[in-house]
Amino acid sequence: MPRTLDLMAPEVRANPYPLYAELRHTGIRQVEPGGMWAVSRYEDVVAVMKDPRRFSSAGLGQGFLPPWLPRNPVTESLVMKDPPVHTRLRGRVSRAFGPAALAALEPRIRALAEQLTEQLLLQQGPVDFMARFALHLPVSVLGLLFGLEPQQYPRLKEWADDLVNLPAGRHSPEEQVRVRESLASLERCFAELIQTRRESPGDDLVSELLRPDTDGSVLSQEEIMSFLFALLPAGVETTVYLLANTLAVLSERPEERARVLADRSLIPRLLEEVLRYEPPGHSSLRLVTEETELSGVHLPRGAIVVVLLAAALRDEGHFPQADQFLIDRERASHLAFGHGVHYCLGAMLARLEARLGLEALFSRLQDFSRTSDPLHWAPSLIARGPLALPLQLIPAPPLR
Ligand code: HEM
Repeated sequence: MPRTLDLMAPEVRANPYPLYAELRHTGIRQVEPGGMWAVSRYEDVVAVMKDPRRFSSAGLGQGFLPPWLPRNPVTESLVMKDPPVHTRLRGRVSRAFGPAALAALEPRIRALAEQLTEQLLLQQGPVDFMARFALHLPVSVLGLLFGLEPQQYPRLKEWADDLVNLPAGRHSPEEQVRVRESLASLERCFAELIQTRRESPGDDLVSELLRPDTDGSVLSQEEIMSFLFALLPAGVETTVYLLANTLAVLSERPEERARVLADRSLIPRLLEEVLRYEPPGHSSLRLVTEETELSGVHLPRGAIVVVLLAAALRDEGHFPQADQFLIDRERASHLAFGHGVHYCLGAMLARLEARLGLEALFSRLQDFSRTSDPLHWAPSLIARGPLALPLQLIPAPPLR
């Protein structure tokens, strides 16, 4: 029996799965922090995510606009809107993440992944996979998408961190000033970018967003700004953790590690099982819009529901042997990219990035091992991944 029902307790963040099992057993109930209602069974999670009328995504916006921040465009983005506003925005931006756009990006992402692998292998002794590889790939891909200069990529990562840390962060007065200035400078950077692309369009995401739709409708400056803002928290941390969680899981499983290093065609299956077993997008939030009942539990209007995707992904009713990591698992639909109208817009891109990253890396490795135990996990409820991942890499012998 877990000692606490506080989702943010350090021992729960270190290993949340025993508490998730308990929650699935007891059903929907209130937890800390904040007396949110935790939804953990597969069927209940699906029910919440496919019903934006009763469970609004405005719940997500609450943490992103603390009283000391005058404005934050991310709260106006599609992630935090419900239909019909969401439907219009989503319809308008989807094309930029479709198969044609991704096919054009693929060779550039592969080149990035090979370059990062090369740099990683230059390191002697243990290396922090997070700092040296996982962090760089998704940030650089967003930089490519935005059409930014490579020297601006590190700043992109800082901006993403400032946004991601808003909901959980305890910001000192000095930090508040710094974050206010940081987000204002992000807005200036995007405003310049939008202006540049208005004057001379290219083949990047911003130019695509500026193009009128087939019916002649266009996105406003504010709508483009809020979408670009949203891509930072949505597209960086999640994909960084997918890469890191994959290596973390493999570092504990010599047999599976040997299999995937020997046969890289297994990488897509491997990634799907990591997404289920140690999901980087760990949970989401919803706001209850009217007094309602879910699986026999009464939820008051205004309540916040924490949708525990990671708990649902270990639900035995949907995934036999749910606590086992099985690369050969028969595929069942999983919720790692959400469900319903907000299903992750970047799911194909994230899978592509992670696959190309691992293909580049595994093609150059004979083996690897972890050099520190236990892992320290990011203190976040929304995303799960290690703060650092020190690895000893054993390069593959050069091909003759
Ligand atoms: C492994 C990596 C990723 C995971 C696990 C992930 C997970 C998720 C989840 C669970 C949602 C639904 C949130 C909700 O319903 O409240 C979501 C939405 C979203 N994701 Fe991802 N994501 C990943 C990568 C990306 C990338 C690379 C991008 C873009 C660069 C992206 C862009 C988005 C956007 C724009 C939405 C909102 C869609 C909407 O509201 O209609 N994601 N993601």
